Amino acid sequence: MAKKSIGIILNGVTGRMGTNQHLVRSIVAIRNQGGIPLPGGDSLWPEPVLVGRNESKVRQLAESHGIARWSTNLEACLADPASSIYFDAQTTVQRVPAVQAAILAGKHVYCEKPSADSLAGALALAELARQQGVKHGVVQDKLFLPGIRKLKRLVDGGFFGKILSVRGEFGYWVFEGGWQPAQRPSWNYRAEDGGGIITDMVCHWRYVLDNTFGAVKRVSCLGATHIPERWDEAGKPYHCTAEDAAYACFEIDGGVVAQMNSSWAVRVHRGELLEIQVDGTEGSAVAGLRGCKTQHRANCPKPVWNPDVPNPIDFRAGWQEIPDNQEFDNAFKTQWELFLKHVELGTPFPHDLMEGARGVQLGELALASWRERRWMDVPELEA
Ligand SMILES: NC(=O)c1ccc[n+]([C@@H]2O[C@H](COP(=O)([O-])OP(=O)(O)OC[C@H]3O[C@@H](n4cnc5c(N)ncnc54)[C@H](O)[C@@H]3O)[C@@H](O)[C@H]2O)c1
Repeated sequence: MAKKSIGIILNGVTGRMGTNQHLVRSIVAIRNQGGIPLPGGDSLWPEPVLVGRNESKVRQLAESHGIARWSTNLEACLADPASSIYFDAQTTVQRVPAVQAAILAGKHVYCEKPSADSLAGALALAELARQQGVKHGVVQDKLFLPGIRKLKRLVDGGFFGKILSVRGEFGYWVFEGGWQPAQRPSWNYRAEDGGGIITDMVCHWRYVLDNTFGAVKRVSCLGATHIPERWDEAGKPYHCTAEDAAYACFEIDGGVVAQMNSSWAVRVHRGELLEIQVDGTEGSAVAGLRGCKTQHRANCPKPVWNPDVPNPIDFRAGWQEIPDNQEFDNAFKTQWELFLKHVELGTPFPHDLMEGARGVQLGELALASWRERRWMDVPELEA
């Protein structure tokens, strides 16, 4: 059993997503399990080089996770043939120039969503990657969440009959930063720094809806900046120029109506931070990040509107948790393994830069819908 190394430049790795999801829960976790098993008994061994602007921060991060290679010089890393993959989890506005440089240096590229801060940028990346013949991918982690995979299992198994509607609630209270530190970086609340929940979340809803229920055909979206002032990482107050809530409605091919609320200004009275309810003629389901409950039409109670008496039905008791029936690994790690195998073995990886561009496209259309106060059609993007 030999270890086959694969060099990966990890940029933006000192950030929230870079450190927690990509370094610790994905790359380090893959190394801790002994690599990714390959056909024939060998294993694929990720050999990262951590890249960041702050030398002491990036060195410390590398040392604390047993990573030998780190650098503050991205250009030098891109010129080094020891790494064949470039990964980007920088803030969104840094993405296009960095990924472009990596593709031109001949690296395969993988990046966080949104793949760009504009549709034009996202399409340019997809086209450049195609021209240069490198492999490419964009994070679509929600597809690999246990709850969403169980939901997909129900759709594929025909559980719902005809699917009628999808209603999603995503969000939680992001502290303003004044009397308790905020749990998200402040750039998220400044449009000039690439912030805004529409750009952040609608690209997720695109691939979740497209892959689970059918192609998104139209969007209507209302944004809101509910909290106008927040405090940044240095404790300084700033004006919020980006929306912190999005109330969006989507029409899906075949007539399914999907409504997704996304908010950083909502207190959670739900089982999970994301819950998606699907109603169909034969049954309904509510999926969270991990769990998924169903109610078949045979188990559906018959409520009658009567506010004069206490509600006689325990509605939640009429739902059944569906079993795992398989092992679920971390969603980001699962997608990393697929991408690394795609690079090494040429196995399929549909989550490419063109898919990333579709997410950016829907985000732009949602913003335009809010600005112009109208429904927007979603044109097909040429691959
Ligand atoms: N897949 C998901 O569910 C998910 C969730 C949150 C964020 N994201 C995406 O991940 C990316 C990073 O988000 P985050 O929350 O980790 O942000 P963050 O602010 O915690 O991290 C950003 C990283 O980019 C680096 N960076 C910032 N400005 C830079 C500059 N001018 N030049 C070079 N590097 C710079 C920072 O040093 C840091 O390493 C964003 O594109 C965001 O949309 C994805």
